[in-house]
Amino acid sequence: MFTPDFYLPELDLYIELTTLRQKLITEKNRKIRKIRELHPEIHIKLLNKSDYYKLLAKYGYGPLGGSKVEGINKVLFSHTQIQRRVISLAKRISQDYQDRNLVLVGVLKGVICFISDLMQHISIPVNVEFMAISYYGTDKEQAVKITKDLDASIAGRDVLMVEDIVDTGMTLNYLLNHLYAHNPASLKVCALLDKRIRRLVDIPIDYIGFEIPDEFIVGYGLDYHGEYRNLPFIGVLNPEIF
Ligand code: IMP
Ligand code: MG
Repeated sequence: MFTPDFYLPELDLYIELTTLRQKLITEKNRKIRKIRELHPEIHIKLLNKSDYYKLLAKYGYGPLGGSKVEGINKVLFSHTQIQRRVISLAKRISQDYQDRNLVLVGVLKGVICFISDLMQHISIPVNVEFMAISYYGTDKEQAVKITKDLDASIAGRDVLMVEDIVDTGMTLNYLLNHLYAHNPASLKVCALLDKRIRRLVDIPIDYIGFEIPDEFIVGYGLDYHGEYRNLPFIGVLNPEIF
C-alpha cells in the first residue's frame, strides 16, 4: 500500500513527502521506482520536507503563501481546497438540475474564477449569462445600479444565481428581485463565500462553498480596488491596507 501525500493537478504530479534521514530514504525510493515500472503513466516525485517548504514559500501556496504576497495576512483557502469544494458543489448542482433547463447567472467581475471552475465541473448542459453592477453616489447615499443586464431571456428557465461572496446580502437581494421580475421557472443561489455574521437581509443560499469570518478577503476573483483578483488562493487582506 502506498498513498502519496498530495497531487498537483496543474502538473499532473503526485508528491510523496519524506522526513526520513537520507539512509532510510532508499526504501521509499525503491517503492517509487516500482510504481513507475508498474504505472508509467503516473508521475510521482519524492520530496524532502525542507525542499517542500521552500517551494511553498516561493510559489505562494499553503500557509507560507501570505508572506510572499504583499498585503495578505494569511491564506484562508488554498487553490486545492477551493477546487475540491467547487467540484463537490458542481456535482450537487448537476444532480439537482438533471433534465432541467439551467442558466447560470454571474455578476461581474468577482465571480469570474468561481463560475468558470464551477461550470467546467457541471455535467449537464448549461447556459451562462453575466450581469454587471456598480455602486454610485457618496458613502452616505450609495445606490446600486445594473450596468450590464442579461443578454438572453430567462423566462421559464431554471436560474442559478452564482455569487462570489454574500456579505450584508443587500446586493444579492437587489439582483434577485430584478431576476424574479423576468419570470424564471425557478431561482436559486450558489455562493462561494458566505460572510453570514454580517447579514442584514436574510436570503436563503442554496449552495454554499465556505462560511467565512468577518474579514476582508481577496483572491480567486475577489479584489481590493481592482487588485488581487488573480491570486489562485483566497487570502485575508491586512487591515492596515484599507
Ligand atoms: P453585500 O451587498 O454586502 O452582500 O456585498 C456583496 C459584494 O460586496 C460582493 O459581491 C463583493 O463584490 C463585495 N464584498 C463583500 N465582502 C467582500 C470581501 O471580503 N472581499 C471582497 N469583496 C467583498
Ligand atoms: Mg459580487
